[in-house]
Amino acid sequence: MTMAYERYLKEVLIDEVSLKRRITELGQEISRDYANSPGLMLICILKGGVMFLTDLMRQIEVPHEIDFLAVSSYGRGARESTGRVRIDMDLRDEVVGKDLLIVEDIIDSGYTLKFVMDVMNARHPNSVRICTLLDKSSRRTIPIPIHYTGFEIEDKFVFGYGLDLDEKFRNLPFVGVVREEALSSE
Ligand code: IMP
Ligand code: MG
Repeated sequence: MTMAYERYLKEVLIDEVSLKRRITELGQEISRDYANSPGLMLICILKGGVMFLTDLMRQIEVPHEIDFLAVSSYGRGARESTGRVRIDMDLRDEVVGKDLLIVEDIIDSGYTLKFVMDVMNARHPNSVRICTLLDKSSRRTIPIPIHYTGFEIEDKFVFGYGLDLDEKFRNLPFVGVVREEALSSE
């Protein structure tokens, strides 16, 4: 059977096994670093970070809370972020005095995470760090400190494993590169 995503897929960039292996390593590293934390909280950036969060948290052995933050950038197209970012859905819980770990799918220009870092730091947590599954570092416009990176990737549009292609295919168990021809012919 031909699956709906296949016509958009140029190649699998990171397969399921590689994702699992790397996320296990990240979980171990985070577990060591926060072994003595009195209050670790993972903050998942919706929607893209959700698959990564659920897999990552199962590899973290330190007791922790989770919460969700939905942000979007407005202006320009759906595949590129702008400097103007807003909160669509805020956290439910208090972050004062906690060790926050922001869990994100991908960092591109850096605008989104710069905004999130500024908002979180203003709320007086004990610490804030970033954990991103993917880093397109060649695209960075705003420098931001990243403590944990799953994979550095080239400047290609990717989808799957939480990342969307026009809001679909977040469920794919791998990260794939989009076939540009399939997009321009729509
Ligand atoms: P930034 O603000 O430019 O760093 O963009 C970050 C956001 O853009 C991510 O949270 C994603 O939602 C989206 N994004 C950037 N690159 C890609 C991609 O290759 N595939 C899917 N979404 C992407
Ligand atoms: Mg997106």
